[in-house]
Amino acid sequence: MSDLQQEAKRLDAADPLAGHRAKFALDDATVYLDGNSLGALPAHVPARMADVIGREWGELRIRSWDESGWWTAPERIGDRIAPLVGAAAGRIVVGDSTSVNVFKAVVAAARIAGEGRDEILVDASTFPTDGYIAESAARMTGHRIVPLDPADIPAAANDRTALALVNHVDYRTGRLHDLPGTTAALHAAGALAVWDLCHSAGALPVGLDAHGVDLAIGCTYKYLNGGPGSPAYVYVAERHQSRFDSPLPGWTSHADPFGMEPGYRAADGAVRGRVGTPDILSMLALEAALDVWDGVAIESVRAKSLALTDFFLECVRAYVPEGRVTPITPEAHGERGSQVALACADAPAVMPELIRRGVVGDLRPGLLRFGFTPLYVGFADAERAARVLADVLAGTPAGE
Ligand SMILES: Cc1ncc(COP(=O)(O)O)c(C=O)c1O
Repeated sequence: MSDLQQEAKRLDAADPLAGHRAKFALDDATVYLDGNSLGALPAHVPARMADVIGREWGELRIRSWDESGWWTAPERIGDRIAPLVGAAAGRIVVGDSTSVNVFKAVVAAARIAGEGRDEILVDASTFPTDGYIAESAARMTGHRIVPLDPADIPAAANDRTALALVNHVDYRTGRLHDLPGTTAALHAAGALAVWDLCHSAGALPVGLDAHGVDLAIGCTYKYLNGGPGSPAYVYVAERHQSRFDSPLPGWTSHADPFGMEPGYRAADGAVRGRVGTPDILSMLALEAALDVWDGVAIESVRAKSLALTDFFLECVRAYVPEGRVTPITPEAHGERGSQVALACADAPAVMPELIRRGVVGDLRPGLLRFGFTPLYVGFADAERAARVLADVLAGTPAGE
């Protein structure tokens, strides 16, 4: 056993989160490093879904909207996500996709910012959907998009800035952006901060309330393990809730949804972020999946995430021949999310071979991307992934 394999063994034995892996449907033949794209299935979710489908839908049918708590699921599940992102209850509502929530948040923030502020600053390296939707929202509301490096947003905010839409963690590089500092600078300029938490929720502390974030959105199918296409969420700071003017004022966000009034009157609170009939099956799978967080402190997840990514980088440096890959994820802990991205000229050929050999990461243009999900990835997984990567790059046949 090599020194790094021994070190991995020691780190796994000392890991206080190691026991959580058994909560997931995972096999030891695979190192799953794609939880930053689709989280693994928590093992108890299928039985819960069998009950939802067989009893709640199959037997109770329409009664379940009330008796099984379907109607209030968007707010109830929002309250389950809230502690993971540092929000008090009543500030998050679950529903729709992240893309749709980007639209709601950008338009609502532009409306709150008011007249005279005609610029929307957008993270130039954003995940594409945020940029596409912000651009369309800007055209609809008469704003101008200003694409910027997130590091330049604080200095660029001015009295024409309505809001900035920023990714907390960059989906390509894994760079963690400065949420407290950027939010404070936007506020000093009288603008609002809208954060995309897709790559940070469930991986590191976010502190939405503590840092005074105005609005935030995020998905639930990555580090929150909600399942493919599970619904996203929108956070609305308490001080903005009465002014949150949704561009999609569907009937389920009405103050009296069953009054069937011809005119719209918004409900109070985060419920305003709702649109139409919630996607109950996906939503209840997400609700069940969130049980894996019971008793887990997000700070302990962050500590393990940093230790895992440090160790993976150390193993890559030790095993992979010089010059074959270049880490583009920042070394500094304060600037790193929970993934490691390696620039690699042969990435399109390398990733399928890695997957064939049981190491599942993913591919972005010119990049090998490896997500580290502390609840179910261990140090031996990180060591094995780096070793298999080195073998693939060296052209060593599998199993040698
Ligand atoms: C930062 C970010 N925003 C948005 C999305 C996707 O949005 P949607 O859930 O609408 O597909 C992703 C998906 O990976 C993402 O990484």
